[in-house]
Amino acid sequence: MKGLILVGGYGTRLRPLTLTVPKPLVEFANRPMILHQIEALANAGVTDIVLAVNYRPEVMVETLQKYEAEYGVSITFSVETEPLGTAGPLKLAEDVLKKDNSPFFVLNSDVICDYPFKELADFHKAHGGKGTIVATKVDEPSKYGVIVHDIAKPNLIDRFVEKPVEFVGNRINAGLYILNPEVIDLIEMKPTSIEKETFPILVEQKSLYSFDLEGFWMDVGQPKDFLSGTVLYLNSVAKKHPEKLAKGDNIVGNAMIDPSAKISPSAKIGPDVTIGPNVTIGDGVRIERSVVLANSTILDHSLIKSTIVGWHSKVGRWCRLEGVTVLGDDVEVKDEIYINGGKVLPHKSISANVPQEAIIM
Ligand code: GDD
Ligand code: MG
Repeated sequence: MKGLILVGGYGTRLRPLTLTVPKPLVEFANRPMILHQIEALANAGVTDIVLAVNYRPEVMVETLQKYEAEYGVSITFSVETEPLGTAGPLKLAEDVLKKDNSPFFVLNSDVICDYPFKELADFHKAHGGKGTIVATKVDEPSKYGVIVHDIAKPNLIDRFVEKPVEFVGNRINAGLYILNPEVIDLIEMKPTSIEKETFPILVEQKSLYSFDLEGFWMDVGQPKDFLSGTVLYLNSVAKKHPEKLAKGDNIVGNAMIDPSAKISPSAKIGPDVTIGPNVTIGDGVRIERSVVLANSTILDHSLIKSTIVGWHSKVGRWCRLEGVTVLGDDVEVKDEIYINGGKVLPHKSISANVPQEAIIM
């Protein structure tokens, strides 16, 4: 089987992290985001994976070569000279996606869930339509593509409304599809939106179905949702693979800690925390609902709450970081500093408080 991951863009909404690391390589739960997807595709029997990108960062090529060997898949980069939207990349990768008659998967790269690829493929084959969209329910549907059904036929899509201004329903497009190769014939080689241009044609043809996702789902393309997604993911790991979570007297609730991290026994970690490799956490530190990325240091008695600490950063003593603060790569926060909702660009040193949401550059 085949799959295409829409990797496009520069991940602006996940800045400052994406200023130094391409979005798909930013670690979610201590593994590059894209690895969660590659692993799920490989487990479902996918052998050819296309990464649809607007640019080709060398670091990504290197990392992915490693995964090719590890997961026994072939990964090719399909590079757009201008952003082709969410449908154009399918046309550009036509050679791979049409190499046989079997349907192919399409994934938005910023979506985290228990990817149901096998079940999706079975469901798709059974209904005989040209496409199937994975659906999930959310409280705030206006940020997403909404799926509307005929009551009589609960899986055949009657209407697809991208980013609705008025409420039409709360079952949304989870950003995972399976499509027959002939769908590519509906797409021209130019910037095209699959949600606004291709899906409406399939709906018109009565050939687009939806498949309900079980369990958690989150688009982790922005810091606030990255943290919420981490909470949901850890919750799911706690149920399915509790052995992957940290245990100990100083751990509260769900926390995932790389074995190479050095954590003072008097620090208190959790709930809902991930700590990456080679991180050092000092005495009396308190961390909750946060992500600490590789090679960072948090010195004694600091409080880290609803925060993403970027790689190689150093937080001083008696600091307080909260309110969806994000530190980029190699940031230094001096002792006793308070940051509330600051986005700090890479290589900065912070020696004054940031009491309100601000970008520090
Ligand atoms: N290759 C390529 N080229 N990829 C692109 C381009 C492009 O020009 N534009 C966007 N993408 C990729 C993004 O990187 C992302 O993985 C995916 O396409 C969707 O784009 P987003 O910008 O993240 O869209 P969204 O989150 O606002 O909405 C989409 O996702 C929702 C679920 O999270 C839509 O598909 C909605 O219908 C859906 O509900
Ligand atoms: Mg998105």
